[in-house]
Amino acid sequence: MPHYSGTIQSKLPRVGTTIFTVMSRLAAEHGAINLSQGFPDFDCAPELRALFTKYINAGLNQYPPMAGVPVLREAVAEKAHALYGTEYDVEHEVTIVPGATYAIYTAIAAMVRPGDEVILLEPAYDSYAPSVEVNGGTPVYVQLTYPDYAIPWEAVRQAITPRTRMIVINTPNNPTASVFSAEDLRMLEGVLEGTDIVVIADEVYEHIVFDGHAHQSVARFPGLAERSFVVSSFGKTYHVTGWKTGYVLAPRELMTEFRKVHQFNVFVANGPIQYALAEYMKDKDAYLNLAAFYQRKRDFFLAAIAGSRFTPLRSRGTFFQNLNYDRVSDERDTDLAVRLTREHGIASIPVSVFYREPPQHRVLRFCFAKSEETLSKGAEILSRI
Ligand SMILES: Cc1ncc(COP(=O)(O)O)c(C=O)c1O
Repeated sequence: MPHYSGTIQSKLPRVGTTIFTVMSRLAAEHGAINLSQGFPDFDCAPELRALFTKYINAGLNQYPPMAGVPVLREAVAEKAHALYGTEYDVEHEVTIVPGATYAIYTAIAAMVRPGDEVILLEPAYDSYAPSVEVNGGTPVYVQLTYPDYAIPWEAVRQAITPRTRMIVINTPNNPTASVFSAEDLRMLEGVLEGTDIVVIADEVYEHIVFDGHAHQSVARFPGLAERSFVVSSFGKTYHVTGWKTGYVLAPRELMTEFRKVHQFNVFVANGPIQYALAEYMKDKDAYLNLAAFYQRKRDFFLAAIAGSRFTPLRSRGTFFQNLNYDRVSDERDTDLAVRLTREHGIASIPVSVFYREPPQHRVLRFCFAKSEETLSKGAEILSRI
């Protein structure tokens, strides 16, 4: 095996293997019920699979256009207009990308210079801070309040300095399962007014908002839409996380810079998948019924663990249910997550890993994008602990 004997000064010295990989590996080793990593254990619609093979067999196997195939960009723009009332120009303001993580990285790489500050709300999806740091930026953290995971607006206001280039928001929110309200977005609009601060709105769970509420996209708010990269992912919406395909909406000025980086980073997203998604998007029910589908799973899981000593925190969106374990153990969440996998055969994600400094709260995140059989087995184990 070749061996590099030079010196490497890591650009990301604190980054190791992600907790998702660690927990999924541990779950596999111990044959545990895996409610850790956020992906479904059921397949996507057979129609979607058939469309993918249809376009492969039709020979659409070469590079698609850099910004994405026009039919998919049109379908995305139409959806955004129908749901959020904002028009995005298909030619200049919609880009199809290989996944939301990529989109977030690319937007940061296009905007953030060494010395720039980027406000992140903690707990934060794990890709944000490394994406900022590898581009020379400095993450500035503001913690959501516990246990309701609300945004402390005064703290956000105080975190803004002349060096603030960007703020990243994520609603519906992973890992907290909270959802930001219209009032939150109006607050953000007010806080950013008169600044050049750009927003990345990670809205990959846009179609998974529960209890009759509507998703509050930044696209709905003119003062935010004009400064935002809106990021979404087909992986979450159509149960195809492995397809790694998503999209970005942004005003032309921002998208021009985004595409400069995109062009030399990946150039294009997967072609036949884009044609398949464009055709599948004609069936609006597939995304409009998604919230009800996952709400049933949330409620099924909650009913099944009702007798356990874990205390559910409110899950308003996404496919995660957080459980407080004050009545179970005083171990650190990272220790408990490992022990539950090894000794009890159930894997979860410790929420502290989404913070720079682990907080005192005792919370584990469970993914309910699973079959009822898996959820029942998981709940049975939790009820015995
Ligand atoms: C908040 C959030 N953003 C982004 C992603 C990544 O999406 P993709 O697989 O399209 O890169 C995820 C996936 O778990 C997520 O939870």
